[in-house]
Amino acid sequence: MAGVRITDTTLRDGHQSLWATRMTLQDMLPVLEKLDSVGYHSLEVWGGATFDVCLRYLDEDPWERLRTIKRYVKRTPLQMLLRGQSLVGYQHYPDDVVTAFIGRAVANGIDIIRIFDALNDLRNMEVPIRVAKKEGAHVQGTVVYTISPVHTTEHYLEVARELEGMGVDSICIKDMAGLLTPFVAYDLVKLFKENLQVPVQLHSHYIGGLALGAYLEAARAGVDVVDTASVPLAFGASQPPVETVVRALAGTPYDTGLDLHLLFEIAEYFDDLRRELGYERGVTRITDMRVFEHQVPGGMISNLVNQLKEQKAAHRINEVLEEIPRVRAELGYPPLVTPTSQIVGIQAVLNVLLGQRYKVVPEEVKNYVRGLYGSPPAPISEEVKRRVMGDEEPIKGRPADYLEPRMEEARREIGDLAESEEDVISYALFPQVARKFLENRRAGKLNPGRRPARQGVKVNEEVKAGMDLKEITQLIKALEETGVTELNLESEGVKVSIKRGTVGYQPVAEVGPPPAQEPAPVPLKEDEGTAAEVIEVRAPMVGTFYRAPAPDAPPFVEIGTRVKPGQTLCIIEAMKLMNEITADAPGRVIEILVENGQPVEYGQILFRLAKE
Ligand code: CO
Repeated sequence: MAGVRITDTTLRDGHQSLWATRMTLQDMLPVLEKLDSVGYHSLEVWGGATFDVCLRYLDEDPWERLRTIKRYVKRTPLQMLLRGQSLVGYQHYPDDVVTAFIGRAVANGIDIIRIFDALNDLRNMEVPIRVAKKEGAHVQGTVVYTISPVHTTEHYLEVARELEGMGVDSICIKDMAGLLTPFVAYDLVKLFKENLQVPVQLHSHYIGGLALGAYLEAARAGVDVVDTASVPLAFGASQPPVETVVRALAGTPYDTGLDLHLLFEIAEYFDDLRRELGYERGVTRITDMRVFEHQVPGGMISNLVNQLKEQKAAHRINEVLEEIPRVRAELGYPPLVTPTSQIVGIQAVLNVLLGQRYKVVPEEVKNYVRGLYGSPPAPISEEVKRRVMGDEEPIKGRPADYLEPRMEEARREIGDLAESEEDVISYALFPQVARKFLENRRAGKLNPGRRPARQGVKVNEEVKAGMDLKEITQLIKALEETGVTELNLESEGVKVSIKRGTVGYQPVAEVGPPPAQEPAPVPLKEDEGTAAEVIEVRAPMVGTFYRAPAPDAPPFVEIGTRVKPGQTLCIIEAMKLMNEITADAPGRVIEILVENGQPVEYGQILFRLAKE
């Protein structure tokens, strides 16, 4: 029996999981040839969040990064992660963009493409698989692992079998939340090996440590390849360390044959780099590990806490964590991975904050229920479907069939700022971000290279005298992106120690004025039955008030407009989403108290209606 082979994810998932995807090409160059000499099955170096981050934050052309890596890595196949019809973005793209992107990815050096869909909806993988096959890549179909009543081993086998039928060259089991336990890993891999012809690869995140056990049991069950990272970019939210897996399997029938000495030389390089840039090692916080209890990934919890803080409701996190499984069940048990984690999370937050479930439903949730993200693993609750869509029927068929081609339009829009087909594709994927990048390139204003994690602040640096809580909060925000987890500040004798804990960064001792008191909860609807029969419509959340935010939005509500229950009065943009605020009762608008585009506070009066 051949030993287990290893994919190294340090240059993609490793730094995406631990360094906010901030490793630059310059950081990678000195170690590429050494990585190439290890004898890895493949190096995962591209896709996922790396494309977006290159353009948005690193002043780097992702295509140029790929071509350069290819020049140095001559023997080991290069691998990328592709989010099905969403490619390397967060929305579905039309087929012509998918075709162009995959064509250029292969032409620029990608050998293996791992394709997944958040809902395991094969229709979202169909075109990417077909195009990647045609371009001559090794196509890896993916089964996203989660835990729910409908996600049985038989369900996974069915998905894997269909992927095999679509012509994939191998199958990946993707355990993005670190939920796969060792003995389930054994059963799943065994089942796949007995029923599939193609090789099976396991991708797990370390989180609470299950991944190491899962890899060993998967090896016993005959897994062909597992994913690891170099130890300075392993553990915590990342993959298990390659060194441990190599040692654990040495001298067994599953021996990887990799040279530990060489792996430690590489680890030294990455550890020096880590120190220089100021990143933490991968650790598991208790909040992250509580994924065992409620299946909500750690990254999703910190997002939720931030959103709750914006709404001055951080203390309601436990209610939200209890609401998430209910929403997830009602929405048909989607695995909690981008973008479904955001969809389930936002709805749970709104249900808790508004004290009435599905009173406000963001556009993204509506689109999910309409079927625009694909078909959920289980049916959506009829009641929720009715609440969200009324009599409208979900779409039938492949979501991308509803999208217009985009490439020619993108080519016209970006004009001569695009110097290659790759530039046009970058623009089609991320219009604003790519345009800014291409403009800066034209103006000679790009500044690629090292990106220290600390943005002008050193750990243990003293706070300037007079720095108030607002500045400290800004500092914390700046740090949050960087992966620094602890900061000790001192200001006029007051010490502030900030640690990333269960609710994001929290000053242990406060400096400056205490944060504003949370306003008393205000009923959303009141004054019914008062003498004047006036209904006040209040903001159910903090956000920006819009009377007509989008071309297809409902017409303006004006003074004198008669509204029916359920009619949209305005939109409040909050938590990066557009939320429609509707009338509860029939009435006539007698007063509009907020200007278009103005920020509104929780409980602030937006409209006065005369009850009819
Ligand atoms: Co991953």
